[in-house]
Amino acid sequence: MPVHSTTRKLKASDLRSILEYVPLYRGQIFVVSIDGSVIECENFSNLATDIAVLKSLGIRVVIVHGIGRQMKDLAKSCGVEISDAYGNAPVDDKTLDLARTASAKALQKIQEAFAVLDMRCASTNAVRATEVGIVSGVDYLNAGRIDKIDADTLDNLLRLDIIPVISPIAVNRKGRLFRLNSDMLAAEISTALSASKLIYMTETKGLAVGGETAVSIPLNKAAEVLESRREKIDARVFDKVKYAVKALSSGRTPRAHILDGREFASLLNEVFEKVGSGTMIYADEYQKIRKAEDSDANTIYNLSQNSTKEQNLVKRTLEEISQKISTYFVYEMDGSIIAFVSLLDLGEGCAELASLHVQPFYQGNSVGTTMVEYVKKIAKERGFKTLFALSTKSAPFFKDVCEFDEVPPETLPQARLEKYRQSKRNSKVFKIGL
Ligand SMILES: CC(C)(COP(=O)(O)OP(=O)(O)OC[C@H]1O[C@@H](n2cnc3c(N)ncnc32)[C@H](O)[C@@H]1OP(=O)(O)O)[C@@H](O)C(=O)NCCC(=O)NCCS
Repeated sequence: MPVHSTTRKLKASDLRSILEYVPLYRGQIFVVSIDGSVIECENFSNLATDIAVLKSLGIRVVIVHGIGRQMKDLAKSCGVEISDAYGNAPVDDKTLDLARTASAKALQKIQEAFAVLDMRCASTNAVRATEVGIVSGVDYLNAGRIDKIDADTLDNLLRLDIIPVISPIAVNRKGRLFRLNSDMLAAEISTALSASKLIYMTETKGLAVGGETAVSIPLNKAAEVLESRREKIDARVFDKVKYAVKALSSGRTPRAHILDGREFASLLNEVFEKVGSGTMIYADEYQKIRKAEDSDANTIYNLSQNSTKEQNLVKRTLEEISQKISTYFVYEMDGSIIAFVSLLDLGEGCAELASLHVQPFYQGNSVGTTMVEYVKKIAKERGFKTLFALSTKSAPFFKDVCEFDEVPPETLPQARLEKYRQSKRNSKVFKIGL
């Protein structure tokens, strides 16, 4: 598809692949940051339609917009020389004046496009600014940074099905106006709202690494690219990656995307296709998994109680868990253990993934599959060739979701097979090569 295509229409069959994702994204917040240039481009009305599709699927969308292009156009038509178009350098009074007009213009275009699609939106003062001040001896004048974000106000608007639209100018507690950088603004709002996606719509295809656009890149690699290839990265993409890295490092937003806003359906393709159309930066899920410590034994024991009652897991005493604590891994969220798993050496180059448990409240959020992938990775690193898993009630999870093969119990190493027979649980046995 050519980059500037604005003609292709979504096919009815596209709905199928979109609907698969509906349960995954329903109720989640996406912060969509739209560059000023994208608001002015031919494809903008299509982008508004993409946003309407997200909304119709129950995704809660917050819009942040830029005004760089509007600033440049106004400066040209008014014959005014501006000190900065993007809000990351000193902003003099004339430039701030123009920023007010540019912001009103961009906001109006967004309101128009949304009104045509019958979407309600509201411009808010939920962001309070403060001055950047003097940096390395330079006075940044009217350039601002974020002092406070009123997440409750944004949340209330979202509950009312109203899209908050946030402009890159905001006042401080005394009512003085400042110009903010929209890339930074979007990242901070995404963090404040724990948005599941921070999406930058710009005029490039994403982050180029070694001449090719990176389709997906882990957070640590993106941070490394910023360091090592600073001069080679387009200045505006650089800022987006920089702020995306910051948002993801907060641990509150797991994914950021940089997409070409001129390309038809780039937003929907990125969200609903396995391989999207721009660059996705993702926080490493495994960062939340760590080896269990002695002090975790009690928590693991308590969390396992329900699962053993329902006979999902083998009953283990606190002493047994304490003794084997070095075989356990735990998944932490906001400082609490929400899942655990153990990796046992069965001899003969085989290991067993055992005692996998995800707290019921967190089930269905990919924690279980992430734990399985993690254990596979560790088992492989430790030189095991085969990984077994035994299950009484979660057979379809191992077979259909994690793609293990069901095998006869006799496939187990001898010592494990004897224990299996003694237990009389009659579990199904699964195996995967590493
Ligand atoms: C099995 C278990 C670990 C899965 O964890 P989870 O975090 O809910 O799993 P995920 O979110 O990664 O699951 C993704 C998929 O697995 C499916 N799945 C989860 N548990 C399932 C089960 N018992 N039977 C069939 N499918 C199951 C989900 O429907 C989902 O499918 P989808 O992607 O097609 O929607 C969790 O349900 C659990 O702790 N169960 C109780 C303990 C247990 O049975 N442990 C296994 C024995 S070692």
